[in-house]
Amino acid sequence: MKKNVLVIAPMLTTVLPEMRERFNVHVLWEADDPDALIAEVGPSIDAIATDGVVGCKADLMERCPNAQIIGCCSVGYDAVDLDAAKARGLRVTNTPDVLNDAVAELTMALMLGLARKIPQADAYVRAGRWVTDGAFTYTAELTGKTVGILGLGRIGKEIAVRCQAMRMRVVYHGRSEQAHQPYPYYADLEDMARDCDWMVVIAPGTAQTRAIVSRKVMEALGPEGALVNVARGTLIDEPAMVELLGSGALGGAALDVFESEPSVPEALFAMDNVVLSPHQGSATWKTRKGMGMLVVDNLCAQFEGRPLLTPIV
Ligand code: NAP
Ligand code: 8YV
Repeated sequence: MKKNVLVIAPMLTTVLPEMRERFNVHVLWEADDPDALIAEVGPSIDAIATDGVVGCKADLMERCPNAQIIGCCSVGYDAVDLDAAKARGLRVTNTPDVLNDAVAELTMALMLGLARKIPQADAYVRAGRWVTDGAFTYTAELTGKTVGILGLGRIGKEIAVRCQAMRMRVVYHGRSEQAHQPYPYYADLEDMARDCDWMVVIAPGTAQTRAIVSRKVMEALGPEGALVNVARGTLIDEPAMVELLGSGALGGAALDVFESEPSVPEALFAMDNVVLSPHQGSATWKTRKGMGMLVVDNLCAQFEGRPLLTPIV
């Protein structure tokens, strides 16, 4: 008999046909009344499929009391209430590695976009200003600059090699120095910021990383420094960042993630030293399909009694 899966996050549309082949799929956002759907099917649900933004809260776990597993279609699982899952004996899986290239590529795009003012250049041409005002303003290069990576993990390492391809010098910060890395290590984030032209944030959203990029860190990065966040909005003191970008105490920022997505601090919309992106680090067709299939494969493993491919708990 097919198992029942409750799908609560729209990005899983990439693999809904494959899911439907294997499971009875209940799609929350297709329901006229999602609450009524949960009330109706909750007790029969064997698995919950979600993503890194929607996550899974304790109350939904309670309303699906017979669920065995939560398949999270993201590497970051900060939006899943892990304590509640553990307390209920629920397994949780994520989607590491399959998205490394897509996120690293977007990081480079954001860095180049900010340095070379690509959004402004595009708007300049479209508005006919190349004809009326002449050549576009001069911009900056990445070549020869130092980039500090906060979180030299799976994605951080892919960003590092791409920055090296841009002839940048790479350094990094994490909780401890890693063996066999060619990049200089900074034990102190503020020290790294002081020595860097760019800082790329790609560590997980945890209680320990909340506002780790503090006002002091951003001031150390300074008026010529640029901040790139492709991790989670929670890692940056967002109000301080907006203020420092506005005053010029922080040179620029390229941001794929925000504290209260999809809300973005409105003050950023008017700033010329900012590039904004709607949390699309992993959002390529290929990668979203790979992530979705990893969710499906983990659910299949659970129900066929095989070891989970990418378990969190
Ligand atoms: P990962 O392999 O676990 O790497 C995370 C790195 O962060 C590790 O090198 C770790 O180093 C460091 N770190 C962890 N806690 C830290 C702390 N308290 N202080 C300093 N460094 C810390 O994770 P990943 O697969 O690269 O993914 C990283 C994050 O990127 C995810 O958790 C997710 O939130 C985000 N992400 C965003 C997008 C997007 O669409 N924008 C896409 C994918 C992922 P140490 O252990 O040495 O400290
Ligand atoms: C997802 C992400 O796009 O994997 C992560 O941690 O942030 C992204 O890949 C996001 O979680 C929405 O599912």
